[in-house]
Amino acid sequence: MSFASQCALVTGAAGFIGSHVVDRLLAMGVTVVGYDNLSTGQERFLRHLDGNPRFRLVRGDILDEAALPAAMAGVDFVFHLAANADVRGGQRNPNIDLEQNTVGTHRVLEAMRKTGVRRIAFTSSATVYGEPTVFPTPEDCPLIQTSTYGASKAAAEEFIEAYCEFYDFQAWMFRFVSFLGERYPHGVVFDFLKKLRATPGELEILGDGTARKSYLHVTDALDGFFTAISKADGAKSIFNVGNTEYLDVRAVADVICESAGARGVRYRFTGGARGWKGDSPFVHLDISRLQSLGWRPQLTIPEAIRRTVAYLQANEWLLGARK
Ligand SMILES: NC(=O)c1ccc[n+]([C@@H]2O[C@H](COP(=O)([O-])OP(=O)(O)OC[C@H]3O[C@@H](n4cnc5c(N)ncnc54)[C@H](O)[C@@H]3O)[C@@H](O)[C@H]2O)c1
Repeated sequence: MSFASQCALVTGAAGFIGSHVVDRLLAMGVTVVGYDNLSTGQERFLRHLDGNPRFRLVRGDILDEAALPAAMAGVDFVFHLAANADVRGGQRNPNIDLEQNTVGTHRVLEAMRKTGVRRIAFTSSATVYGEPTVFPTPEDCPLIQTSTYGASKAAAEEFIEAYCEFYDFQAWMFRFVSFLGERYPHGVVFDFLKKLRATPGELEILGDGTARKSYLHVTDALDGFFTAISKADGAKSIFNVGNTEYLDVRAVADVICESAGARGVRYRFTGGARGWKGDSPFVHLDISRLQSLGWRPQLTIPEAIRRTVAYLQANEWLLGARK
């Protein structure tokens, strides 16, 4: 499909990935309505768009059944990214994933149905596979839930599929590994840098350091995301978005310390194969479906980590903006 002269609404537009989606859409000539409650998003990620006649930010909640459809008037395509993106958040608050991710997605679908918008791109997660037994993990692997976050994303995918059947929606659903890059505001690189600042010379690492994870730079990820949307024309498409490689947590810590110029750091492992309950000890997705459309990741994981560290060191305000 072509985006020329289209209008898109991006939920979670002020977030890490959402703000990059906004930039890409504007670069493609799309008119964009950003929709965000700024719970974890940063207006600074969108400040460079001040005065852009093709962009406006609506400060609103996806759970708001009046404001959301109002913001969708005249829209052709919805990019739904707003969510609780913190996998561990569900342990502190057992309602957050259900409300923000599953009910929130249903509210987005209902707003679309009521306003006649039929196309949606949705950011799901590798977490929906739980702890799979097949690696790299293909899209048709059974979904077995080990976290409320994964469960909420799987349920959201299923509501979207149902709307494709019932109401003739067209959907692109993306199961992401952990992304890195500019505007990165949460995750392992963020946590390790904060810890290194608080206690130079020592780094607490959750788990025993052997967990293996795949990561992808956000630029590569969005190349894949838009390749899929432009080339896959089925009623509902699901794509893994990941990397051909993975690193264990100790190796990730090594690259972070080296990039941050932290020498002689002593690692203190909390122990156990998992960093926390619901953490998968091995994440490596099969990306051949997306590769068959001509997409390839360009950056290695160490290079993506180095760029992320450089970005956070140049933007220290962000390290203080989120816990
Ligand atoms: N970052 C990753 O590596 C990663 C991996 C897998 C999946 N995802 C998914 O990608 C999406 C974006 O993640 P991110 O890393 O950019 O997270 P983020 O926290 O930076 O962005 C989420 C955005 O949604 C907004 N938001 C949250 N709840 C909202 C609500 N109720 N109403 C309106 N806006 C709301 C926040 O203010 C924020 O701007 C999420 O759906 C997340 O689950 C991210």
